[in-house]
Amino acid sequence: PVKAVVFDLDGVLTETSKAHFEAWKMLASELGFEVPDELEDKVRGISRLDSLEIVLTYGNLNEVYTDEEKVDLANHKNDLYLDLIKGYTPENLSLGAVSLLTELREKGIKIALASASKNAPFLLEAMGITAYFDVVVDPASIENGKPEPDIFLKASELLGITPGYCIGVEDAYAGIESIKAAGMTPMGIGSKTVLSNCDTVFSGLESFHNFLLDHSIIK
Ligand code: BG6
Ligand code: MG
Repeated sequence: PVKAVVFDLDGVLTETSKAHFEAWKMLASELGFEVPDELEDKVRGISRLDSLEIVLTYGNLNEVYTDEEKVDLANHKNDLYLDLIKGYTPENLSLGAVSLLTELREKGIKIALASASKNAPFLLEAMGITAYFDVVVDPASIENGKPEPDIFLKASELLGITPGYCIGVEDAYAGIESIKAAGMTPMGIGSKTVLSNCDTVFSGLESFHNFLLDHSIIK
């Protein structure tokens, strides 16, 4: 029996992966180089500073900036990102998000958020879904980012539910690794090609919701 569902945010409950990618693209262009489209999948689930390192490889600039300058660059990327998401409303939720969250609550299944993003609380508020969550893990409280299990383990601990009773939902390869390492059941949202490490991948939250009902995972 499943007692909790632990959601990732970006790329799962809302399609912010595009905005993250756009912001990195703008930063790269300000620094004088271009990034390829494949970057969008490479930074899925990866923390802000680790993502910056991936971005800088395309300009061969990893060794050029000091740690302090890198923090400034990452903060600047965040300003660009915030500008892209500042107008977010419930309309920016992925299709089926509210009906899924509502049904989970009705059925007594706990709901947690395990997002690497420091902007997650802002987005939950802007999209009007904060109240659905029993637990929102603060990524600043986590030592190792995805693919390490820390953030999903923290969600399990805060929920008071062992990982074996939890489903983890992710759009990122690194996120599925994190879920598996934590001992939760992984479910993917998005591309089967990107999520080659996950057996159960859905095109969106609606088909994930139907699967939970069809297989009596929620009753
Ligand atoms: C993840 C995104 O959810 O959060 C990554 O998939 C992002 O692309 C990471 O880098 C950190 O987000 P933020 O908003 O704290 O920079
Ligand atoms: Mg994600």
